Amino acid sequence: MSALEMAFTSRVGRKVAARAGLHEPPVLRRGRTYPGGPIVLATLGASRLGADTLALLGRPYEAPVIDSGGDEVPGYGDRIGALVVDATDLNRLSDLEALRAVLRPALRGLEASGSVVILGRPPAGDWEQRAVTRALDGIDRTVGKELRRGATSNLIHVDPEAGPLELASTLEFLLHGRSAFVDGQTWTVAPAVDTPAPSERPLSGRTIVVTGAARGIGAAIARTLARDGASIVAVDVPPAGESLAAVANEIAGTALQLDITAPDAGARIAAHVAGRGEGLYGIVHNAGITRDKLLANTDAQRWASVLEVNLVAQMRINETLLTPGLPGGLIDGGRIVGVASTSGLAGNKGQANYAASKAGVAGLVAAMAPDLAARRITSNAVAPGFIETDMTARIPFVQREIFRRANSLGQGGRPIDVAETIGYLLDPASQGVTGQVVRVCGQNVVGA
Ligand SMILES: NC(=O)c1ccc[n+]([C@@H]2O[C@H](COP(=O)([O-])OP(=O)(O)OC[C@H]3O[C@@H](n4cnc5c(N)ncnc54)[C@H](O)[C@@H]3O)[C@@H](O)[C@H]2O)c1
Repeated sequence: MSALEMAFTSRVGRKVAARAGLHEPPVLRRGRTYPGGPIVLATLGASRLGADTLALLGRPYEAPVIDSGGDEVPGYGDRIGALVVDATDLNRLSDLEALRAVLRPALRGLEASGSVVILGRPPAGDWEQRAVTRALDGIDRTVGKELRRGATSNLIHVDPEAGPLELASTLEFLLHGRSAFVDGQTWTVAPAVDTPAPSERPLSGRTIVVTGAARGIGAAIARTLARDGASIVAVDVPPAGESLAAVANEIAGTALQLDITAPDAGARIAAHVAGRGEGLYGIVHNAGITRDKLLANTDAQRWASVLEVNLVAQMRINETLLTPGLPGGLIDGGRIVGVASTSGLAGNKGQANYAASKAGVAGLVAAMAPDLAARRITSNAVAPGFIETDMTARIPFVQREIFRRANSLGQGGRPIDVAETIGYLLDPASQGVTGQVVRVCGQNVVGA
């Protein structure tokens, strides 16, 4: 810890920070836990989607308090844990008032780390319907920024052909503490065949490869997926062999020392999995590096090394593992998850190579999704923002403090937050989620 950091974390330092408007950030609720307070469901229209999905999850719910527009704003007696708004029937601009009327009383009534979940439809229909779709997005992002005490807001576009079974894992994730650092964004749930209902240990008996698993986010991913029942193949470079073995032993997985940029990396992964007598259910491409410099100072070597590890290797390994009939290759109904970054989505000074690679990951998973649909393999990415790891510990203190706080939750995320989001995407119950990028950034304000 630098002298400046010590000063900042001391009592006096904290006072100075508070004077500068930098308050102690709220402690977020994490894990497979629902909020303590009741779930309120507001249905705008005749839809049954929200009600049926909560019933499928076995969650009771209460009726909303509605602001009628009078002088007194009605509130909830005790704090509520979550507000779910089923706005899937909402398609006229004049209907947006109904959304305001249920959101207003709830915003002050939400418990710490509570959640607002808005269910809408993907863009379609006439001009007005499309304007409404975007309006919901603007409302969601703003609610995310206005909520306090670690509460979050997210908007899910539910395809009209998708039902409660397809939506259940996403709604569960957003109500759970697993989504603590996912805020102010939108993604889509599509129809899917053979979607099971969510369960406590959804990855039981499934083999999943995690690259870059020796430390940081990768180690957290390996541990979290093992908690959810997965049998893990932990991959990292030979120099990280000792810590890799420690992670693998801790979770009763196996270690595979491998540089993912090796031309035969995919074949070696498949051989390792086949050697265990298993098929491969999922791969998490977490290994990544940075070699930051302004583009004006970036030579070909610095450029290539980052693209090679973060993107090219991922694509090559996927191609191998998707070879039909390959022993140890990806099974039908399997999962591919790439780790992108908000730097790729928003751009980041000094990171042209990294941003190219991470935006490329987002493009890759979106492009693969429709091609893999026939085999029921989903491909998605997570885009972490500022996560407390060795990678971000290297950022100079003042800059790090700014990045860390530049989001709606006023703090950095933890490796477990990325891991939980990946666990959600890997869940067999998330069959309807594919081609998506889920940011794990606390609604980071940089760029996007
Ligand atoms: N930490 C953050 O705030 C943050 C933000 C956005 C995205 N990410 C991404 O999350 C992922 C994990 O980040 P982290 O902070 O845990 O990083 P980290 O540097 O702590 O860990 C990365 C791991 O990947 C391994 N690795 C690197 N090159 C490899 C190769 N060629 N073959 C096999 N393994 C290799 C490393 O040995 C290391 O164990 C990376 O893809 C990173 O770009 C991190």
